[in-house]
Amino acid sequence: MIRETLQTAPRSPEAAQPSTQPQIAYDPQLVPPLHLMRTEGIDVLEEWFRWGEEWSVLLRAVGGLRTTSDILEIGCGLGRIAFPLRFVLRAGRYRGFDISTQKIEFLKQNFTAAFPTFQFEYADVKNTEYNPTGKLAATSFRFPYADAQFDITFAASVFTHMLPEACEHYFAESARVLKHGGQCLFSFFVLDFYKPGHERPYAFAHSRFNFAHSWADYGSEFALVAPENPELMTAYSSSLIKKMAARAGLASVGEPIRGLWSGTDQFVGTQDLIVLRKN
Ligand SMILES: C[S@@+](CC[C@H](N)C(=O)[O-])C[C@H]1O[C@@H](n2cnc3c(N)ncnc32)[C@H](O)[C@@H]1O
Repeated sequence: MIRETLQTAPRSPEAAQPSTQPQIAYDPQLVPPLHLMRTEGIDVLEEWFRWGEEWSVLLRAVGGLRTTSDILEIGCGLGRIAFPLRFVLRAGRYRGFDISTQKIEFLKQNFTAAFPTFQFEYADVKNTEYNPTGKLAATSFRFPYADAQFDITFAASVFTHMLPEACEHYFAESARVLKHGGQCLFSFFVLDFYKPGHERPYAFAHSRFNFAHSWADYGSEFALVAPENPELMTAYSSSLIKKMAARAGLASVGEPIRGLWSGTDQFVGTQDLIVLRKN
């Protein structure tokens, strides 16, 4: 309902005319249809806008984003975060890739057409939840960008759907494409904050956030929710994240910044955040 209201709101005769009046800065064609949103578990339009705005602020407040930054979004989904960034990156450049062909098609047709400095690439990488028939292994996938060209790489709720070997390889690829001194802002479910049986807020009260299973030889450093679909939801210890980052040539900047998911009353965003720097 909200969606129809937003997309079909009648425009005043003045708005239809080229004029010196301020224009409505909304771009409804960049808001995907509901059936595409549902492929990411988004049922409520408010969540679409809320998450994008959250990340737009986090990137500026803790990720070091400037209006001139060159940035890469790993697992860009349907452009939820690109949406608010189109007004932030006034003199910057955005690249995003994802493993879902229909999401990238939507973004190329709508987003890049309206904002050419925002470009999107498809990669047929396998993921048991998002692309089970993918031809390429995440553990050896080379990001489709040259070395040392980005100020920031970020991944919002992507490593929460990936296994450790692939995650470590993505860290190394992030280091490769970052400029010297460039930063990463990655969200995780950090196991240090997970308390089995403890009450969790909102959607996180659901059993799909019960990290009850270990994996391979990772012991208590890594956990997942569904062994039959390992990339449905994953969680890492902060020590494993630090070790993977160090091996990839990335230094941790501070401690993980807590998100609200684990049930703490001291949080910044929704998921936990890790900031890394290429030295
Ligand atoms: C929960 S969605 C988040 C999408 C987007 N980051 C956002 O915040 O709206 C997870 C995304 O990660 C993508 N993904 C999963 N595995 C990936 C991989 N190995 N490489 C790149 N993207 C991946 C999925 O296709 C999906 O779009």
